[in-house]
Amino acid sequence: MNFKPLKQILVEKITNSFEGRITFAQYMALVLYHPEYGYYNSPEIVIGKGGDFFTSSSLGQDFGELLAIQLHQMWQNLGCPNPFYLVEMGAGNGQLAQDILNYFQFENNQLLIKALKYIIIEQSPALAIAQKKLLKSFTAFDLTWKTLSDIPDDSVVGCFFSNELVDAFPVHLVTKESGRLQEVYISLDREELTEIIYPISSDQISQYFDLVKIDLSDPQYPSNYRTEVNLNALNWLYIVSAKLRRGYILTIDYGYPANKYYRPSRDRGTLQCYFQHRRHNNPYANLGYQDITTHVDFTALEVQGESCNLETIGFTQQGLFLMALGLGDRLNDLSSGKYSISQIFQRRDALHQLIDPTGLGNFGVLIQGKNLTKSEKFLKGLTIPTI
Ligand SMILES: C[S@@+](CC[C@H](N)C(=O)[O-])C[C@H]1O[C@@H](n2cnc3c(N)ncnc32)[C@H](O)[C@@H]1O
Repeated sequence: MNFKPLKQILVEKITNSFEGRITFAQYMALVLYHPEYGYYNSPEIVIGKGGDFFTSSSLGQDFGELLAIQLHQMWQNLGCPNPFYLVEMGAGNGQLAQDILNYFQFENNQLLIKALKYIIIEQSPALAIAQKKLLKSFTAFDLTWKTLSDIPDDSVVGCFFSNELVDAFPVHLVTKESGRLQEVYISLDREELTEIIYPISSDQISQYFDLVKIDLSDPQYPSNYRTEVNLNALNWLYIVSAKLRRGYILTIDYGYPANKYYRPSRDRGTLQCYFQHRRHNNPYANLGYQDITTHVDFTALEVQGESCNLETIGFTQQGLFLMALGLGDRLNDLSSGKYSISQIFQRRDALHQLIDPTGLGNFGVLIQGKNLTKSEKFLKGLTIPTI
């Protein structure tokens, strides 16, 4: 591991700050996204086996291929428009894009291939390099890398989608003290980082709780209750929804509706860190070498979406979503005699992991839509009802 002077950068930032403290969101933005030393921006970042965490796309091609089936149906639903935009946000090492494009290549629907404009929005220069390398053989496709601000408002007919993007946004940490909503800040105690509690840094934090109808002043919430607020998620959805003229926003991530997320018993919140596939809850360790994530409050995305002219088409679990798109058929196909024993074991394990109700299968899949007719809202991935 190369040395990263993040601690020194933090000390300077806190020392130069107006009140000698920064919010946890500023802290998290720095340790994850500092242009040079942030976790996601370091040249050595690896997602999957050799890295710190797995995602669904690290498990093999099935996740991307099943998602491609849903994206294809969206194109058909919209009347096979040309151009048809697929905008993948936060593409990691490019694995998901590779699996989706491979599927479209295999399908060989020339109308779709010609209409498709596949755009990747990736904040990490190091990951964008890895993506370009992995995807360089897809010369038949119109595949480009852009920033969100490159995409004009009201210009996209198609789908914006992401897997495990929103959980990586920097969050504010809040707590309840003496019955009041307070915020956790990072300050210095003899040059060491230390948490301190002060009033909230922005009214948007209390407005957030109004938005999702959660009242932390309720006595069921114990003193010192601690949780997170993802204001970046609201801002992101506001920006993305403005770019969409007609179509869908598909968000896959771990998380809960607000009433489950902000359960009184969840009194330490959902913040988790991943370092070399070990999960822990100390965001101040391994500065710049570990991932820090929080669960996604899907109610916040739905309510924010409604105020941005988006309609919730459906919210389901990844397991049900993938089963509706044909994962069960893929499991059955493993006994067709076409595969070796080791292929069967490896693929069956991957397929089971994707739908495991105690793991990836319990991820949320939220599909929001804009300017759609009733029939355009019928989506294959949402056809198995949630319980
Ligand atoms: C947890 S990884 C998920 C990667 C990939 N989607 C997958 O399923 O393997 C989060 C990804 O989002 C990217 N990211 C985080 N914030 C972003 C932002 N504001 N805009 C674009 N990409 C972002 C990270 O650099 C990284 O590629």
